[in-house]
Amino acid sequence: MALKFDFTGKVIAVTGGASGIGLATVKLLASAGARLSIADVQQTLLDNVVAEIKVQGGEALGFNVDVSDAGQVNSWIAQTKQQLGPLDGAANIAAIIGTGINKTRVEDLEDGDWARVLAVNLTGVMHCMRAELQNVRHGGSIVNVTSVAGSMGIAKNSAYSAAKHGVVGLSRSAAKEVGDRGIRVNCVAP
Ligand SMILES: NC(=O)c1ccc[n+]([C@@H]2O[C@H](COP(=O)([O-])OP(=O)(O)OC[C@H]3O[C@@H](n4cnc5c(N)ncnc54)[C@H](O)[C@@H]3O)[C@@H](O)[C@H]2O)c1
Repeated sequence: MALKFDFTGKVIAVTGGASGIGLATVKLLASAGARLSIADVQQTLLDNVVAEIKVQGGEALGFNVDVSDAGQVNSWIAQTKQQLGPLDGAANIAAIIGTGINKTRVEDLEDGDWARVLAVNLTGVMHCMRAELQNVRHGGSIVNVTSVAGSMGIAKNSAYSAAKHGVVGLSRSAAKEVGDRGIRVNCVAP
C-alpha cells in the first residue's frame, strides 16, 4: 500500500540523514514536499543526499554537525531557521552503536566507549531537542529514534541500551512540557 502524506513547505530538521534509516527518512520527506535541513558527520554522504534531493526538485540543506557538541547543534538550528524559517518538525535519528556492543559486559565497560555512546545517543538527542523546541512552530512534531533496546535489557549492550532508555525518558518528559503548545514528542523504536 502506498504511503500518502503531504509535507509541502514544511521545514523539517533531521539528524543522521546521510545513511540508513535517516537517509530513507529524508528521501521520503523530500518526496512529500518537505524543506529539509539535514545534519550528519559524514560529509560526502551528506553532499550526495542533498544533491540527489535537489536533482529531484526538492529543497535540502546539509550541515556537518556532531550532535554531541551543543555549540554545533545550536548553530545548525539557528542557520536552519535563518535560511528556511521556524521548524515544523524534527527527526532525531543519529546514533552510534559503540565499540563494546555485543561483546562487553557491564563489569568490563570502558569509560571512553560508555562516554561516547551516551554523548551521541542521549546527550546528542537532548542537544537537538533543546534547540528544536526553542524554534518549532505551534503544532509541530518531534520524533526521536530509540530502539527495542530502549525498553528492554540486552546483554552486552548496556551503553547503547542505557542511552536508548534515556531517550524514551527524555521524550516522555518533553511531551508533557510542550503538549500545551500543541507540540507532539514521540519515539520510534526499530
Ligand atoms: N538499523 C537498525 O536495525 C536499528 C535498530 C534499532 C534502532 N536503530 C536506531 O535507528 C537510528 C538509525 O540507525 P541506522 O541503522 O540507520 O544507523 P546508520 O549508522 O546507518 O545511521 C546513523 C547516522 O548517524 C550519523 N551519526 C553518527 N554519529 C553522529 C554524530 N555524532 N552526529 C551526527 N550524526 C551522526 C551517521 O553518520 C549515520 O549517517 C539510530 O538511532 C539507531 O540507534 C536502528
